[in-house]
Amino acid sequence: MAVENAYGDENFKRMKKLLKERLSSKRYDHSKRVAKTAEELALIYGEDENKARMAGLLHDWDKGLTLEEQRHRVEQFELDIDPVIITDMPYLLHGPTAAAALGAEFPELGRDVLQAISRHTSGAPNMTPLDMIVYTADLIEPGRDYKRVKAIRKSVGKVSLQELYFLAFKNIYEFLIGQNRMMHPQTADVWNHLIYEMQTNTVNRAAAAFEAGSQLEAQPTDWIAAEREMPED
Ligand SMILES: [Fe+2]
Ligand SMILES: [Fe+2]
Repeated sequence: MAVENAYGDENFKRMKKLLKERLSSKRYDHSKRVAKTAEELALIYGEDENKARMAGLLHDWDKGLTLEEQRHRVEQFELDIDPVIITDMPYLLHGPTAAAALGAEFPELGRDVLQAISRHTSGAPNMTPLDMIVYTADLIEPGRDYKRVKAIRKSVGKVSLQELYFLAFKNIYEFLIGQNRMMHPQTADVWNHLIYEMQTNTVNRAAAAFEAGSQLEAQPTDWIAAEREMPED
């Protein structure tokens, strides 16, 4: 079917209906909340709201499949996925498999939207703003309830999108360590990349402030301040 406006209201409703048939009502409700949260984040951070809501809606497209079915998708679409993920961390598969399946079935969906869907499970170095929006929306939608979620929500609009994504990613990183869970090397790569980026930004900001003759160079970045404000309970 030819779709005139891939991210318009009409196609959004059509995809919502199709999604409902694939997921449990709980997962479907979560997907709708992620769509709404992604749309809000896009509005706040100046990104395309319609793309964000579509990517948010569809991010768990394959979550209703069994792990065997997800593994089958990997073969079907000849996805280049580390065998360790397939055997030991299959919960990371549903992002890449959903992106492949959606791309094949709905050619109107752009690569940027499919990439954001693909990356929502493991993150990646060099995330685009849309990637970060979907990843973060999945973790802070109103149905989420964990120790730091309120503090991360409070940071929305106060810190940069990258800093917000960092807070969400850090929470997952800490969760994996706290639960003695295996970690894929790419997760550590993402962490290192983020820390490097943050430090570079800090240095750049300090250098700019120094050039301008202000006293800013010794101040902590906003994200460090946001971290400090996080409640312990
Ligand atoms: Fe997911
Ligand atoms: Fe999700």
